Amino acid sequence: MFDLLPEFWTPVLPVAEVENAPVAIEVAGERLVLFQNLKGEIGTLLDRCPHRSAALSLGRVSENGCLACPYHGWEFDRDGACTRVPFNNPADLKLSQLSAVGLPTRVIAGLVWIFTGKGNAPEPQLPDSLMKSQESYFIHHEIWNAHWTRVVENAMDYVHVPFVHRNSFGGEIGKSAIEAGSFAEFQITQREQSVEVFNNFHNIESGFLLEWHQPNLVVLKFDEIGMPVRVHLFAIPIDRHQTRYLNAIELLNPHAAGMMNEFIAPIVEDRVVIESQKGEIPPTNGECNVPTDRATLIFRCWYHQTIASKRVSI
Ligand code: FES
Ligand SMILES: [Fe+2]
Repeated sequence: MFDLLPEFWTPVLPVAEVENAPVAIEVAGERLVLFQNLKGEIGTLLDRCPHRSAALSLGRVSENGCLACPYHGWEFDRDGACTRVPFNNPADLKLSQLSAVGLPTRVIAGLVWIFTGKGNAPEPQLPDSLMKSQESYFIHHEIWNAHWTRVVENAMDYVHVPFVHRNSFGGEIGKSAIEAGSFAEFQITQREQSVEVFNNFHNIESGFLLEWHQPNLVVLKFDEIGMPVRVHLFAIPIDRHQTRYLNAIELLNPHAAGMMNEFIAPIVEDRVVIESQKGEIPPTNGECNVPTDRATLIFRCWYHQTIASKRVSI
């Protein structure tokens, strides 16, 4: 289950998109259904009824806030427990044996998060900048035709900026760095579940900080007109060929919402290039590597040791 991203917490959609109607979504090769119960709590189930395998997402949320299957109307609560089987005498049933598969689900930073594993989920370990209320974030998401590892790597890669973004935010700094004959420098701090990278060019005023957090989050940290900005980039695998690129930008000032398009517009510049790369990132001895690939090679090493080497087959 979830071979592309097993045993991790990951966001899947903005909570604002999960209202009363069930929402079908695919995450890491698994079809899921998200729904909200009467208390406003979100549940995530595998999108497969335990009775005859119909898609639960075709059903509806019943009067008591359970998800009712479209085929024979069995109902399930947000943990997957079966609560009703129409036309059968309850005395003849063992409801505890009729459960759908539920996944641990949380709402954090205006996003629905799931744990892609069975059994008890550990507490999610997230940066402080994701611990604000829902209103504190501007959220954008779109689907890229790329493997999720290529998308994470792109977000960690400093020296693509003058080339991919030469017609937007990368133009000026790229021109200065090329004219000055600059070399890129990296100060890298590895932590248990994250890596901090300070990037700059050695002989001009430049630089910004990024953090990669296992497994699929990159936080970009910089100042914009004197305000600190935190851009959270998530690469959420849909399947081997598609990734949901989700951006959650912390609004440090209520007036900042109007500036968000400035951060979203250049995404298409990355997307065109990343969609031209085929398949997952190779191991660290694959493709050609140079010193400016130091940060992304840390991610490649982790990915192949932690995920790629353990999967049965994808
Ligand atoms: S298939 Fe879902 S109730 Fe029968
Ligand atoms: Fe980029």
